[in-house]
Amino acid sequence: MDPNKNPLGLYSIVAGMVIIALGVYIGFDRPPIDAVQIGFRGVGMEQVNNPRTVARAAPLHVAPPPIDPVEPSGTLSSEVYQNVQVLGDLDADEFTRLMTAITEWVSPEQGCAYCHAEGEELSSDSLYTKVVARRMLQMTQHINNDWHSHVGPVGVTCYTCHRGQPVPANIWFEDRGPPSVRGMAGYRAGQNVASAAAVSASLPTDPFSPFLLGDQNIRVIATSALPEGTPSQDIKATEWTYSLMMHMSDGLGVNCTYCHNSRSFFVWEASTPARVTAWHGIRLARDLNVAYLDPLRDTYPANRLGPHGDAPKANCATCHVGLAKPLNGVSMVKDYTGLGTPAAVPATQ
Ligand code: HEC
Ligand code: HEC
Ligand code: HEC
Ligand code: HEC
Repeated sequence: MDPNKNPLGLYSIVAGMVIIALGVYIGFDRPPIDAVQIGFRGVGMEQVNNPRTVARAAPLHVAPPPIDPVEPSGTLSSEVYQNVQVLGDLDADEFTRLMTAITEWVSPEQGCAYCHAEGEELSSDSLYTKVVARRMLQMTQHINNDWHSHVGPVGVTCYTCHRGQPVPANIWFEDRGPPSVRGMAGYRAGQNVASAAAVSASLPTDPFSPFLLGDQNIRVIATSALPEGTPSQDIKATEWTYSLMMHMSDGLGVNCTYCHNSRSFFVWEASTPARVTAWHGIRLARDLNVAYLDPLRDTYPANRLGPHGDAPKANCATCHVGLAKPLNGVSMVKDYTGLGTPAAVPATQ
């Protein structure tokens, strides 16, 4: 090509090179990058972090210091107050301390009035937020008492999800994707648009309804060479699994190899211990959505519900907020009574 005769051709080559260079600049992290080995030597199982991104996100993951301890009053809150259905067995002074902490964790700007209507008795249940908060207390106790398999000795408090906001930053609703302008002819089967859940990949937009509310099968890889005997899963099911896996990686800020050895995604022996924790995490999130969060749909006002009338629900990112160990592994619940008992810290040899 003679550029003098065809200057447009030259321009398009230059423009193309600029676009590629921009793509490389924007789409890739510039060195230096931290890589931590998390599998056997030579299998390429590494956690790759950009130290600059990590430093920028650091303030998000700081646990607030505990409120000063109080001397127990020796009187139960149920003896002092009228309407304590969940925290009745708590010492009255511990109860007040917990109310102060809850306010700091969930509604620091709105204060006590977010759940207790001004000018009314504190025992009144007139605000929906108080009714929801009571269920949240039960949910938090349940996570700490019964989900040692996932949250271990670290446990959770309201702050794990709320981070000083009445509405946690990461919640989900049933999502049927944007409607197609072509009507029935444009049926997308729940995918083929950039999916926010799957980090903008063209994967199913809502992997949460089937897997974190329903208990649809996540395993898609055949366990024998030929499909006979084992129920084989089709490509479509694989796409749903991948969408969930993209969310799990993104929600925890990790690569697939944090849990899997990519030589075989299904073999548990080659996977990391984190994959087992994640397996329990899937069941935990499902349990919270089925037993606690979704049934609150009748308690919320309409403006809190999703486009299809369902209640706001939790996924991995609700607690993890982009980190494999929420709040960098700091246990806040050990400094409070009334929120359940996490697992004992294993004795060091
Ligand atoms: C995020 C919601 C929320 C906030 C904020 C909150 N509370 Fe509560 N409060 C509750 C819930 C839920 C109960 C009922 C607990 C139960 O049923 O065991 C309650 C009960 C009480 C009671 C018992 C009243 C009675 O007679 O039954 C008192 C006292 C109280 N809160 C004081 C406070 C104070 C003081 C603050 C602010 C420092 C505060 N609360 C902030 C949710 C909240
Ligand atoms: C596993 C995560 C999780 C934990 C732990 C948790 N919450 Fe929530 N909470 C949610 C989700 C999800 C919602 C729904 C958000 C919405 O209302 O849109 C919610 C909603 C609420 C609301 C209603 C807010 C509103 O304006 O609609 C209150 C009040 C609340 N939580 C209080 C608490 C308290 C108090 C605790 C601790 C005892 C707690 N939560 C623990 C996830 C959590
Ligand atoms: C935090 C841990 C974790 C991360 C990160 C993760 N996975 Fe998974 N993966 C799991 C668990 C746990 C299962 C099994 C789920 C179950 O059985 O309920 C699974 C299952 C799978 C399966 C199905 C395996 C089978 O037996 O059919 C595939 C495929 C898969 N993951 C691919 C990926 C890909 C690709 C990524 C990265 C985008 C990824 N995973 C990231 C934990 C993880
Ligand atoms: C109710 C809050 C909550 C939810 C929901 C939740 N997790 Fe966790 N997860 C935790 C806590 C707390 C820990 C303990 C962290 C520690 O040891 O410091 C944890 C630990 C983990 C670990 C171990 C990390 C490590 O490096 O040891 C993995 C992996 C994990 N979660 C995956 C998931 C996945 C995947 C989901 C969603 C399917 C999920 N979690 C949902 C709270 C939660």
